[in-house]
Formats: sequence, C-alpha cells, structure tokens
Amino acid sequence: MSTCWEFLSRQRIWTIRNVSRLRNSSICHSCKSVQARRKLHISSDGTLEIKVKPYYVTTPIFYVNATPHIGHLYSMVLADVLKRWEVLRGSRQAILSTGTDEHGMKVQRAAELQDIPPKALCDTNSDSFKALAKRANISNDHFIRTTDPQHREAVEYFWARLKESGHIYETTHRGWYCVSDETYYPDSMVEHRVSSVTGNSFMASIETGNAVEMTEEKNYHFRLTSFRDRLLQFYEANPGWIVPSNRYAEVKSWVENNLEDLSISRPAGRLSWGIPVPDDPEQTIYVWVDALVNYLTAAGYPVWAPRSERDQGWPADTHVVGKDIIRFHAVYWPALLMALDIPLPKRILCHGHWLMSQLKMSKSVGNVVNPFFAIDRWGVDPLRYFLVYSGAMAHDSEYNNDFIVERYKKGLQTGLGNLVNRITRPKQWKLRDAIVAVTTVPSEGSDPFANLTVSMTSGQLSIFTNAIDIHIEELESLVRTVSHHMDELNPTRALQEIMAWVFETNRFIATMKPWHLALTGEKVLLEQSIYYAGESLRIIGILLQPFIPEKAAMVLDRLGVSPDRRTLQDAKLHKDVDYGTPLVSLGKGAPSSLFPPLAVED
Ligand code: MSP
Repeated sequence: MSTCWEFLSRQRIWTIRNVSRLRNSSICHSCKSVQARRKLHISSDGTLEIKVKPYYVTTPIFYVNATPHIGHLYSMVLADVLKRWEVLRGSRQAILSTGTDEHGMKVQRAAELQDIPPKALCDTNSDSFKALAKRANISNDHFIRTTDPQHREAVEYFWARLKESGHIYETTHRGWYCVSDETYYPDSMVEHRVSSVTGNSFMASIETGNAVEMTEEKNYHFRLTSFRDRLLQFYEANPGWIVPSNRYAEVKSWVENNLEDLSISRPAGRLSWGIPVPDDPEQTIYVWVDALVNYLTAAGYPVWAPRSERDQGWPADTHVVGKDIIRFHAVYWPALLMALDIPLPKRILCHGHWLMSQLKMSKSVGNVVNPFFAIDRWGVDPLRYFLVYSGAMAHDSEYNNDFIVERYKKGLQTGLGNLVNRITRPKQWKLRDAIVAVTTVPSEGSDPFANLTVSMTSGQLSIFTNAIDIHIEELESLVRTVSHHMDELNPTRALQEIMAWVFETNRFIATMKPWHLALTGEKVLLEQSIYYAGESLRIIGILLQPFIPEKAAMVLDRLGVSPDRRTLQDAKLHKDVDYGTPLVSLGKGAPSSLFPPLAVED
C-alpha cells in the first residue's frame, strides 16, 4: 500500500493507530500536483487564480440535555448575520458551522433522569436544534454532532497528538466539579449558598450559582500553565482578538491570576457517555476538549494535506460565543491549539445574555422562551430583527414581548414598511419614471432644469435643494459606516445605523412633500425626491439582507431590483439605473403587506 500522505488522507484510510505512519510518510509526485491544483483555481477562461481562504464563522455547539431556547437562537443569528455579510461582500466564499454538543455528565444525567439511552436523547434534541436552524433561516454549511464518527476520529487524533507531544500527564485530581457548567472550579471560586426553594445549603460556583460537587479521581491533565506566557504575549500582540474589549480584559486577568493545569478526562466509571481516551478506555475525554475540536472537524481535520486546511476555512475567522463560555474559547482553546502548532482562530465575538425579569434565561431556572413559538408568533425576520437590534455584546438584555411589539411597530411597520409604501405605491408618481428622468443624460444644448419651478421663491427652492444635497451626502457615507461596524464585529450597531437611515429617509420624504410637488406640477423636484428616496431604499434593502433576508428580498422585489444586482458593490448611489419596475404585483391581489398588524399585542 502507498505511504503517500496525500493518498492516505484522501482515501481516509488512516486510523488513530497509524498516526505515526501517516506522519512519517512522504508525498508522492502525482499527489503533489493534486495539492498544487487544489490551491490554484483554474477559471473558465483557463487563467490561474490563487484561491482565497473562505471566511469561516462558527456558533458554539449546543448541549442536547434540553431543547433550544432564545439564547441559543441568538448565537445562531449573530453568526448567520456575519456569514451573510461576507456573502454580500462577495469577495470570498463563506462557511458557517453549527451543531450539537452531545457528550458529558450533563447529557448523561439528563438521559438517566428521563430513563432513556443517552443517544436517544441526543437524537431527539439534536434534531430540534437542526430544525431551529432551518426555521430561523440560518445558512449553515455544516451541522456537526459530537457523536458523529467523523468527529470522534478528529478528537482521537487530536488527543493522540497532544499525548505524543508531551502535553498530557496523569495525576489524581481533587476539586469542585459543576455538571451544569461542565467544569472544575478552584476553591476560590465556590461558596456556600442556600436554596430558595428547599432551604438546603449547598456549594455553588460564585460565577454561575450552579451547584458543584467535590470529586477526587485519577485523570489526565493538560499542561495549561506552561502556556501562560505564550497566551499573555498573544493577547498583548492581538488586542482586538476578543470583541468586545471588556471581555478581553477579563480573560487576560484570569490567565494572569487563576491559571491551573486542566483536567481533561474523567474516569469512565463516572462518565461513560463520551469518547474514551485512546489506549485507556478506563478514562473518558473531557467534554470541553471533545466539543472544541468540532471547529476543526467541520474544517476537515485531521485530513489536512500541508496547508490545505485553508481551503476548508481553518483558521476560523470568527467564533461567536456567549459570555459564559468565553474562558473555554479564549484560554483553553488557544492553548490546546498552540500545543499542536495549529493556527489560532482570528477573532472571538462574545455576546451578552438574554434575561427574563433580570434573570439569565436558562432551562435550569425554568424561564426559557421557546424559539419555535416566538417565530410562530412574530415571524422569523421580526424576531431576528429584534434579537440583533436590541441584543448587546458588552452587557445583558431583557427579553420582553412588549419590547418586541415596540421594535416591530417603530422600526419595521412605521419605519421600513411605510417607506416602501411611500416610494412604490402612490399613483401620483412612478419610481421607474423618476429613475429614467434623473439618470438620462440630457441631449447636448438642452437644459435639464428648464422645467424647474414655476411656483417657488428662491428661498423655498433652496430648502428643497439643500435637503437633497444633505441626503445625498449622508447616503454616500452609510455603507462605509455600516461596513465599519461589521468589520468591528458589531452587527447591532450596523443594524441600528441602517434603521437610522430608514427614519432619515422618511424625514426626507416628509420635507420634500412629493404629494404636494405632484399637485403643484414641480416635476423636476418630484422626480429628484422620488429618485433619491428610491436610491436610499435600494441601498437599505441591500444592506438589510444579512439581517432580515426574507423581508429584505421582498423590499428589493417591490423596488424591482434584479436579484443579481444585490451585492455590496451595488450598494452605491447611481450604481443601478435599471430598477424601478416591481418584480411582484403591488396593485390588486398584491402579496400581503410587508409588516402586517400583529394579531395579538399583549
Ligand atoms: N456546549 C457548550 C458550548 C460548546 S462550544 C465548543 C455550551 N452549550 S449551551 O447550549 O449551554 O450554550 C450554547 C450557547 O448559547 C452559548 O453561546 C451560550 O452563551 C448561549 N446561551 C445560552 N443561554 C443564553 C442566554 N440566556 N442568552 C444568550 N445566550 C445564551 O455552552
């Protein structure tokens, strides 16, 4: 059998036991050219292009001890907005990975409580997360389950390499384990608490309030402390690595003050639901090591020919995570990757939590909102809109139906819906006519403003022309501002900017009063107002696609923007002069209102 690395890996005939065979193999001549071709793109005209690394964004993978709630949906939506934004930019392929985290004590105990096999619980709840991604229009390319054989292979390989490189040792561990958080806490991070329900006292994590239990057992440890300096140097050199900056400061301080070696296995007698340690079935791999590797599995690890990981997205561009799991992603994960010389993810976006009546929404508290019910009630895009607009990265946000109603009415109905209607529906003007009139180059010698104003004083006229000038100037900076916020991983600010422009364009229309201009025969001013309002809405519609994909498409259909003219490059003033004829009927029998009145507003 060939010992060519490329051949073995493409055939997937390696196993954990022939790791060394794989690593000692060379690459044969014909496979070298396969690798070379993979890195180069041969386009249809026969020219060679260097392949750009795809943009790769991930959500955390979700525990399947219970069904999804709004907090989970939030992580998914943020990652989806980032991916769709990249697609809108159009300069490279974009990949989104999500999935379910199925091993560990938490899932094992949930299955015991329900008296069902853990895999059955995993199958049911994983399906529910998958269904949520579909229902919420999440454009994921991968859905990784940690019980997938392919993921297990990746974890086993990862472990074997850690072991081989001397970063793992065996010892007896004594400490507080929290099943709910799937982590150990040092003595300094636990305290006595009294349950408000039972009155019983118990030991709990100070950070999360979840119960901890004392364990003493033999397990494997990862030499995390030996990465202290490298981690701190890395943070120092990459101050924008964690967004927002308050989390960056927390992580740094944690590494400076609390770093301990990490216990990375549990005795199989205690934790049977997991991936056994290769060559030591008495131990089960710690669920967080297992889970973090999912980001590599989705990128094809370990079947990576030299540098081919780039083609599959690695290193990840952005890991989206909630604030409760920042430490795992910003401390343990980079250290594990450093140990194997695997390039680190480029950035971590850490979001705040959704609260219900000031308490974190969580299954254990029992205050969760079912995302399927919320979508049924508000619609996919209104809910996505609310989560992105009103959620926050640096702090927590309150989830409340009244707030959703308020956002819906103000932003979507009165703001966006009204703007679309004002531009596309009135009988006194036609958007297409305005576009043709304003963008047609006048014939030589003719005066395009010959018809300008019959009935206005120059003072009145300058109010109108000033309003148009200001509108044009601000419109030109909108895309720059929104792009800046997206580059800074701040989808909330980006969406708020777009919506501020919706409100501004409505104000522009109120100032121009096109219905009045139509009455008084001010044709040129009327065309100019409708044209510039139309341009605003076209650009708004393009920019809104990553946030509310279905509604944005409906806006652009109503404006008559061709589906192949909806990229970020098209979001420029005067870039498209061919739209204006609706792609859907707006008259009788027209599709229902963009943002219909809400059925029940309690
Ligand atoms: N399985 C781990 C992640 C492993 S990633 C390698 C996990 N799962 S989780 O199901 O508990 O949480 C998944 C995501 O949902 C996290 O980003 C978490 O912050 C987020 N949320 C869970 N509850 C939340 C809120 N109440 N609000 C916002 N997001 C929250 O952790």
